[in-house]
Formats: sequence, C-alpha cells, structure tokens
Amino acid sequence: MPDPAPLDVRAREPADLAACVAIAEEVRRTDGYPSFLGDGTLESFVSPDDALGTWVAVLDGRVVGTVALRPRSAPASAALATGTLGVEAERLAFVARLMVAPGARRRGAARRLLDVAVGEARRRGLVCVLDVVTHDAAAVELYEQSGWRRLGRNVITLRDGTELPIETFAAPPGPSRDPAPPYRGEGPFALWHVSEDPSLSRLAPRVHPRHPGAGGLVWAVDTRHLPLFWFPRECPRGCVWASAATTPADREAFFGMSDATRLHVVESSWVERILASRLVAYELPPGGFEPHDEVGGYWVSREPVEAVGRVELDGLVQRHADAGFELRVTPSIRPFWRRVVASTLEYSGMQLERAAAPEEPPG
Ligand SMILES: CC(C)(COP(=O)(O)OP(=O)(O)OC[C@H]1O[C@@H](n2cnc3c(N)ncnc32)[C@H](O)[C@@H]1OP(=O)(O)O)[C@@H](O)C(=O)NCCC(=O)NCCS
Repeated sequence: MPDPAPLDVRAREPADLAACVAIAEEVRRTDGYPSFLGDGTLESFVSPDDALGTWVAVLDGRVVGTVALRPRSAPASAALATGTLGVEAERLAFVARLMVAPGARRRGAARRLLDVAVGEARRRGLVCVLDVVTHDAAAVELYEQSGWRRLGRNVITLRDGTELPIETFAAPPGPSRDPAPPYRGEGPFALWHVSEDPSLSRLAPRVHPRHPGAGGLVWAVDTRHLPLFWFPRECPRGCVWASAATTPADREAFFGMSDATRLHVVESSWVERILASRLVAYELPPGGFEPHDEVGGYWVSREPVEAVGRVELDGLVQRHADAGFELRVTPSIRPFWRRVVASTLEYSGMQLERAAAPEEPPG
C-alpha cells in the first residue's frame, strides 16, 4: 500500500495567496464561511493586515487550507477572554481564518494548522483563543475534539443589523507548561546558566539526577525563566503564575489580592542567605541548544559550551520588586505547595526536598 499523502504545514508565501482566495471562495459557497465580509474582499479576509503569522496546509503538493494568528477580534470576545482568563488584551492571540478546502477535509489539515498557530502564540508568550460562529458545527466539533475550552458566548450585531451568535474558546494547555508571563525589565531572549561559582567559563555535559535517562546535558534557562534562579542554589522555592488553563477561582485564590504576575515563595530560614547571595548568570551561545520538550523555558545541549558573557546577580529581593513579582516569606513552604500542585496554576518548584519538615500538630 502506498504511504498516505504527506501533509505539510508551512508559513504562507505570497505565491500561495491565489490558492487561499480560491479556497475561501469555495468554502464560502459550500459552508457560508465567512458569514460576513463587511467592506473587505476575500483576499483581504485571508490576509489580515495585522496578522502575527499566516500558514498553509499542503496536501499532495497542493495548498488545501489556511489559518492566521491575529492580535485582536471582536471587542466583545476580547472582553470575554480577558475577563475569564484574567490576562490583559495585549496578551491574547486569536486564531482566525481557519479553512480547509472541502475536497481535503477529515485528513487532519485543520488540526495541524491549529497546532502551528497555537505554537507560534506560545512562542510569543501569548494566550491563544478563538471565536467561532455557533452554527459552524464542524469547526465547533474540531475545537472540542482538540481540547479547546469554552469561555462563553456573545451575540455580535453586524452593520446590516444581522445578529451573529459567537462562542469563544481558549487553547488547551501545552505539552509542556505554558511559558511564564513577561516581566518588567526583562531583557532580550538569551540562554543562561546560573551559578554561585564566579569563575566558570566552560560547561561540560552532566547527567541530571532527575533526568538520568537523558544522558549528559548542559542545562540552560531562557531570559523569561531566569527569575526561577534568583535564589541561592539550594534555597527551596516555589514559583507560580497563571496560564490560559488557570481557573478564575485559582486566579482569585493565589493572585486576587495582588497585581503581581508571579508569586515566588521561600521559607523564613532562608531570608538572610537570600539577602547576602551573589550569583553569576553566564550567558551561553544558543547555537547548540534545543528546547527541552517537557520542561518549558529550559534548553539543553549535548556538547560542552563556552560562556560568552557574565552578569552578576545580587540584590535578589530588589530584583523581584523591580520585576513586579510578589516574594512571599513563609515559615514552611509545604502547605502552600500542596495547594499549588492541586491547582490549575503553572509552577516550578526547586529544592523542595530541603524544605522545613512540617510542624507536628500539637497534642
Ligand atoms: C472546520 C474545518 C476547518 C475542519 O477542517 P478539517 O481539515 O476537515 O479538520 P480535521 O481533519 O483536522 O479534523 C480534526 C477533527 O475535528 C473534528 N471534525 C472536523 N470536521 C468535522 C465534521 N464535519 N463533523 C464532525 N467532526 C469534525 C473531528 O473530530 C476530526 O477528527 P477525525 O477526522 O479524526 O474524526 C473545515 O470543516 C472548514 O473549513 N469549515 C468551514 C470553515 C470554518 O467553519 N472555519 C472555522 C472558522 S472559526
């Protein structure tokens, strides 16, 4: 039996535009999508000016589907998404213009297009959502089957007075944790290895005790996740933030009394050591690194790596304040951590095996 036809999804090129417009014409005839074009044309519809990315699905060498990622959608659905997810409108990315030619359906093209658009949103640190007209049954089924979460419904009124019922969905949590939110003063993307040793230069691959099967690796963390290391190396700490998958109840319970975007919790016995700590963040060349596929924000290299720069990290408490994080000092981290791991928050706990033993109940 011949292999099934290869399905490819790639960034859209100018030469693909005519094929995308032809798909849109056919989809409009057969499915009535898009329901409205306003003053625009199908060409402007498939190529929104503000797109963060556009992709095509190619089957048997033919463009059969397309999708775009946009920073905005109907104001009512943006308001619904910001309200239910608790993220600012600037952190949303909307999947839009998803369509597959009728002759190429049920072969996984839409699912692949969705995955690529969601991946791009995550790469940019954005929370991915979408709107669907409630009567587009195949699309609703696709989102439900792909694990998207219903956020709620709105009715939008078109310029000709037609009322259009739409439903807003949020993307499912990623295979690895959602990236932490950006922070104030975050520098450009770079890879770092943080150490208490001020004189490192060359890092050799080592077997990590928690990932022995992975072989020898040099581990690095990207700038977005560098604050997980704003602590003495052995300091037990719990770092948490909300993601698209976090429920409003959890958001309220952990962040309801604060504007902070991340909450970092340490034990009282570590305060002096945190205040006195001086660390070095060694900048590593990204060339030989690839992202670790389970632990978001971490990167690994199998080859030895030579540092290309170094930044001293002191004033760790002030760093938290400047970044807009809440740094909480508590006698024992364990009760907090039990709540965190049972919640829908994203989290990173380190050195927790060193946390203070739980207090015995009196009596
Ligand atoms: C919605 C649409 C993009 C789906 O494209 P597709 O390439 O056929 O979808 P996939 O093959 O990736 O489908 C993945 C899954 O979605 C679900 N699904 C897709 N179409 C379905 C349908 N007609 N009925 C029921 N389930 C459907 C199934 O679970 C399917 O998995 P399966 O085939 O293994 O059962 C396509 O039907 C379309 O272009 N519709 C018109 C435009 C539109 O409504 N766009 C959405 C705008 S928000």
